Amino acid sequence: MIRATEKARHLMGQIVKPGDWVVDATVGNGNDTLLLADLVGPSGRVFGFDIQAAAISATRLRISHLPQVTLIHAGHETLAAHLQTLESTGDRPALAAAMFNLGYLPGSSKNIVTQAGTSLAGLEQALAALKINGLVTLVLYPGHPGGADEAAALRSYAQNLPDNFSVAHHARTDTQRPAPELLAITRSG
Ligand SMILES: C[S@@+](CC[C@H](N)C(=O)[O-])C[C@H]1O[C@@H](n2cnc3c(N)ncnc32)[C@H](O)[C@@H]1O
Repeated sequence: MIRATEKARHLMGQIVKPGDWVVDATVGNGNDTLLLADLVGPSGRVFGFDIQAAAISATRLRISHLPQVTLIHAGHETLAAHLQTLESTGDRPALAAAMFNLGYLPGSSKNIVTQAGTSLAGLEQALAALKINGLVTLVLYPGHPGGADEAAALRSYAQNLPDNFSVAHHARTDTQRPAPELLAITRSG
């Protein structure tokens, strides 16, 4: 069975095109940032957010040859404010996609973990900036401490979006413990 993270990456590969503007809302070790940089190419832009300096600096080493990537050491709940800054410089910040891979940074402190309130704020801001046919993916970790509440809040928010968004929910039903899940939200109008 394909993992939630792989499914998210697969969906991004179908949607994101050269020249697009996209967001990696949780940079972590930079794997999704690199994928997005590859998909948008040198004419696109990737904005990567993380609250951990270690994640930003580790990823900075991996993307130093990729001028299309801008790393931002701040929470994704500041996404709208950062896009606003770009708008005031005359650039158009409509997003083709945003990836949220929630939870904690593998190999790092499990105490630094995404929170329902800021994840919801980041999601809301990403959806507000999303262009038609754009995609937001969220990998949820209901098995982590605190992860079940965060996953429930995001599922509920997604299920109550207006009709111009469609939501797919991929979750395993054959595991004893809660497995990572994927929400894939597309703006259709
Ligand atoms: C599962 S990791 C991301 C993995 C990453 N996408 C990759 O490909 O390696 C989750 C990351 O979210 C970050 N994080 C936690 N709260 C955040 C917030 N409010 N805004 C942005 N990043 C946050 C953590 O520091 C951690 O690096």
